[in-house]
Parts: sequence; structure tokens; C-alpha cells
Amino acid sequence: MFNKQETFKLTEEKKTIIVAKQGDNPVSKMVIESLGIHLEDLNDASFSKVQSLGKIPAKWVVFINQEDLTNNKKVKSITKGLASLKEDSVVLLDSFKETTITPLFETLTKAEYRFNKFKTEDKPKTNGIAYTTTKNLDQAIHEGIVFGEAINHTRELINTPYNYLNAEKLAEYAEALNSIPNVSVKIYEKSDCESMNMGAFLGVNKGSTDAPKLIHVTYTGNSDSDEQTALVGKGVMYDTGGYSLKTPQSMPSMKMDMGGAATVLGAIEAIARLEAKANVSVVIAATDNRIGDNAVVPDDILTSAKGLTIEIVSTDAEGRLTLADALWFAQEKGATRLIDVATLTGAVVAALGDAYTGAFTNNETFLNELQQAAKEVNEDIWQLPIHDKYREELKSFSADMTNKGGRMAGASIAAAFLEKFVDNDRPWIHLDIAGSSYNSKEGATGRIVKTLAKLFV
Ligand code: BES
Ligand code: MN
Ligand code: ZN
Repeated sequence: MFNKQETFKLTEEKKTIIVAKQGDNPVSKMVIESLGIHLEDLNDASFSKVQSLGKIPAKWVVFINQEDLTNNKKVKSITKGLASLKEDSVVLLDSFKETTITPLFETLTKAEYRFNKFKTEDKPKTNGIAYTTTKNLDQAIHEGIVFGEAINHTRELINTPYNYLNAEKLAEYAEALNSIPNVSVKIYEKSDCESMNMGAFLGVNKGSTDAPKLIHVTYTGNSDSDEQTALVGKGVMYDTGGYSLKTPQSMPSMKMDMGGAATVLGAIEAIARLEAKANVSVVIAATDNRIGDNAVVPDDILTSAKGLTIEIVSTDAEGRLTLADALWFAQEKGATRLIDVATLTGAVVAALGDAYTGAFTNNETFLNELQQAAKEVNEDIWQLPIHDKYREELKSFSADMTNKGGRMAGASIAAAFLEKFVDNDRPWIHLDIAGSSYNSKEGATGRIVKTLAKLFV
């Protein structure tokens, strides 16, 4: 995607030169002087594009404020600016501080992302940027590209609609991760899930004409350790609500209900490609949720693989059913810590909007560790509570629990439901990304991929 160019001279033909805006390095200084401008002449935009007016062969010079590369709000305008560049650009890396090389390449990689495979005309092209440096920056560049690509893959999975990405297609995608060293992938079929008594997961699939898939990816980066962190992603490939049908207003965008699955797949891709010294697994119980001749109806009682029975009050509270069996499976396979990632509730969107990912835990130390990772990569996570009152909401007259509580505190009640499927002493975090992973303006955001990866690399 990026070509390294051994040397670069200002007298060379290039359409655009990209440099750091800070004037405290000889490379930026040289470019600024040859343009006959002063640094102060430039406004304080994160990304400024200056015409060279024939002073040098390159037609444009782009100045990037490198401090803004790690600023969530400001990096967006840099990404947009870079995405709009036409062919034949070169980045002069020696003008950037070494600590900004990784975020710079992450941004350059993200700027290459287009969701245009369904546009027949007017397809904006990627621009094939070159770079040049006299230093050895290979590792920092690699890390930035890996983060950027993992996020682009996550976004692509989420943006792709159901008729191009059902559970089977997602399983095929996951299977391809096999090509990364120390990664192995196993797909469990419907009959396998039946043998494991995954009645909750299979219940959600009953209205579907497409087969469910249980996806298990493992990365072994530290075979001396028994520690294993499982990343469990909600993989509802489409959520119509089932017989508790969504409204015409709330159904569009529900292709994003596999956002948790896409996020954990992006995370393990980055973790494995960067050869983290840790053991990490991914578990996804993938299916769509829809009406059909055989679909579950409210009042049905499902038996989860753990043996707990669940009275269905709403078929639209399906994510927690798939996660119940996925969490059980992850623990059966030896997970010592668990993080589930799910577009689980509209209630978390009401509480936090798209500013934060909601977090719940049974272990504050573990959540602190994740918060630290989130801070390092500038992602925002806000803790929400689980209280006995929320646990009581799930009491059922007929079964061990219901799948839905009252009207209030829906995000916390959902977390209280999941908690029942986590062994007492096992550190667990539930991340509700319903608000943070997708919006109709930019599509999938790719948020939380980096936080999860940073926990290990
Ligand atoms: N997939 C939805 C949650 C969702 C809502 C994600 C909006 C993204 C945007 C989930 O399966 C759902 O329908 N949850 C219900 C739960 C309720 C029936 C207890 C909800 O939030 O209304
Ligand atoms: Mn639902
Ligand atoms: Zn859902």
C-alpha cells in the first residue's frame, strides 16, 4: 500500500509533499524556506494544503500538525484531508518525531479506506502514497499499518449488509485468519452446537433459513502461560427483532448488530500480527435474528448450554442469548479472563450517546487495566453499574430467569443477565458498543479495536 522511496530531493517531480508542520526540524524548515513562507503564515489547522506556486516542482505541500495525530477529534480532519489527495504524494518522515510515526501510518492507512464496493460510478480511488526516511522506522511503520488495517477490516465487516455477509460468510472470513502465525480457527456447525446443548444460541437461529456458526479463533503467543483472555463478540448478523419485531424506524442499520464480532476479529488480527506475548481467543456465536415458521415466540423457554433456563419475554433481546452460550463455551475452552463486546442495548445509546462505550465488570482491577489501554489509544469507555435491583428484574415465574427486565436501566439489566453466565471468580468485562461502533453518517467507526489490542501489545 505504501512504497518506500530511498531518497527524495525537493527538485524532484511529485504532485504533493507531506511534512510535519512543526518548524523545529531541518526537513520541514527546508520545505518552508523553499516555499518562501513562514510557519506563522499557516493557520493552526491540523491539515493544511499549500500551493507551491512554482517555487518547487511539487504542486502542493501538505502540513500535518503531528500533535493532532493522537487527538481523537482532530485526527478526523487529517484523515479526511489525506483521503482527498490525488496520486503521487510523498511523506517526508524525517520531519516527524519518531513517536508519531505509528499514529501517522495508522492514519495514512485509515485514509485509504473506502466503502465503495457497491457504488457503480464515482468510485474515489486510494492514492498510493510513498514515503522516504534516512532512519530505520520499520517497526513503528509496521505497527501503524497493522492497527490501521485491522480497523479497516472491522469497519468493512460492519458496513457490509446482510445479503453479502451472513454467519457462513463471517465464518469464512474468520477462517482466513489461519494464515497468521500461531493462529488457529475452528468453526462449529449447527449439529456441533446441538451436541453442546446451546439452546439459547440455537433458539435465536430458529427463524432463520441460514445456518448458525460458532467461530473459535485462538492465538497462542505465550505457550509458557496458562492465562488466556477470551474476546467474545456479539455476532447477530441482522437483527429484525424476531416476533417482537422492530419498527420501520429502528430496523435500518441493524446490519451493524455483528459489530462486537467484527471488533474482536479486528483486535485478534492486530494482536497476532504484532506477535503479542499473550494467549488470546475469540468466540462468536453467529446468526441472524428474524421471524420464520419455526422462530421462537415470547413465552418460549430455552435451555442454555450452562443448563440455566430462560423465559423469552422479548425475542428482540436476542444478543444476550447468543452471548450466554458463547461465554459458556469460552470458559469451557479455558479462558481465565473474559471480555465480551456487543451492540447490546438501545439503552446504552440513550445513556451515553456515541461518545462512550459502556463498560460493566465483576473485577475493578481488570477494568482499570482496560481503561489504561483505552487511555493510551485515546478511546473513551465509561463504567456503568450492576446492582441487585437490576438482577431482580430478571426473575421469572416459569424459568430460572427472563431475558428482559423493565423499561428502566436496560443496559445494566442486560449486563446482569450476562453476569449469570460468568463463573464467580473469573474476571469479566462487558462492553456495550451499541452507540460507539456505528452511526449513519460515517458508517462503522472501528472503535475499541485498538483498546483491546493495546491490552496485549
Ligand atoms: N441490537 C439491539 C440493540 C441496539 C439498539 C443496537 C440500537 C444498536 C442500536 C438489541 O438486540 C436489542 O434489540 N435490544 C433491546 C433489548 C430490549 C428488548 C430488552 C433494546 O435495546 O431495545
Ligand atoms: Mn434485538
Ligand atoms: Zn441485537
